[in-house]
Amino acid sequence: MTTLRWGVLGAANIARKQVIPAIQASNNGRVVGIASRDKARAEQLAQTASIGHVFDDYAALLASDEIDAVYIPLPNSEHRAWTIAAAEAGKHILCEKPLALTASEAEEMVAAAERAGVILAEAFMYRHHPVVHTVLEMLHQGVIGELRVVRSTFTFNLSNEGDIRLSAPLGGGALMDVGCYGVNLARLVTGAEPLTGCGIADYGSSGVDESFVGALRFAPDGRAAVVAEVDVSVRAAGGTSYELIGTQGKIVVRQGFKPDANEEGEIQLHQHGDVSRIFTDAVDQYRLMVEDFGKSVLLGRPLAYPAQDAVANMRVLDMLRTAAEQARR
Ligand SMILES: NC(=O)c1ccc[n+]([C@@H]2O[C@H](COP(=O)([O-])OP(=O)(O)OC[C@H]3O[C@@H](n4cnc5c(N)ncnc54)[C@H](OP(=O)(O)O)[C@@H]3O)[C@@H](O)[C@H]2O)c1
Repeated sequence: MTTLRWGVLGAANIARKQVIPAIQASNNGRVVGIASRDKARAEQLAQTASIGHVFDDYAALLASDEIDAVYIPLPNSEHRAWTIAAAEAGKHILCEKPLALTASEAEEMVAAAERAGVILAEAFMYRHHPVVHTVLEMLHQGVIGELRVVRSTFTFNLSNEGDIRLSAPLGGGALMDVGCYGVNLARLVTGAEPLTGCGIADYGSSGVDESFVGALRFAPDGRAAVVAEVDVSVRAAGGTSYELIGTQGKIVVRQGFKPDANEEGEIQLHQHGDVSRIFTDAVDQYRLMVEDFGKSVLLGRPLAYPAQDAVANMRVLDMLRTAAEQARR
């Protein structure tokens, strides 16, 4: 097998705008099937995205011999059930972030994939961008001294009051939708898991946290503690930046999680009162993510980020959610 045959569960916005085009442009995959609760919607998307086969429903797609791997861009509440169903059908799975509603759900999903001998990955595209690799290398080289503070923000204004992000039953909320990025980044740059954390949320009339501030403390082995702040909102003007502050300087990435695929990646290095800029290639990080997944399935290479990472990420989201709920009482 040289080309991975992908199926997509649901005609989701993220599938239509980013991930299906990324797979169709990739060097090792092709979307060959799509299923939707609304067949007409799937047919329309199939036509615009050159997808050959429209299935009657998600289960029919999973039952097909023509599909090797599925991409799951369903509401967060649906990730667990459909990932497990896909694993049991023998399909490899790229599931949207956050992988599940809780760490225990994520563990069940990882166990199901292991039992079935299929690959499972969480679709955190940002960490496939060369900016992230360069930042990690800079930290490793001690360019900013010892890392002490991580600060990230991911905010935007929802335009649709019917959005899945405002639905508690569907697993909405700012922490789940975008807080998962800041948590993932903090874990990635510290190379550690937080020992303690607290959170404060603003809950909207929808019942979900519409803005959230999380604080985490990491104590990486043999190194000084690092504190991280994760600011997110679905009711604030757009921003996706992060800052890594060390004892001798600061790294700033202004387009942190969703850099424009047509622009070079940019990292600012603040040192001794000067600011220098480091540039990386303009890339489609979604394409790099699906190609990494494809290499893992087709060539047996380890994923850049194993599914177990998603379980650890969910543990931190559980901790922050619980802390904010306690603070609310
Ligand atoms: N990595 C990224 O950059 C990124 C960006 C945005 C979103 N996401 C993630 O992708 C997932 C989908 O987000 P989205 O913004 O694309 O959502 P969306 O446009 O609302 O799509 C979700 C899809 O799920 C299907 N679905 C199944 N059960 C549903 C239900 N009960 N209610 C609503 N939809 C249901 C629908 O497809 P059919 O009706 O066609 O079956 C719907 O189109 C979420 O997990 C989100 O966190 C990731």
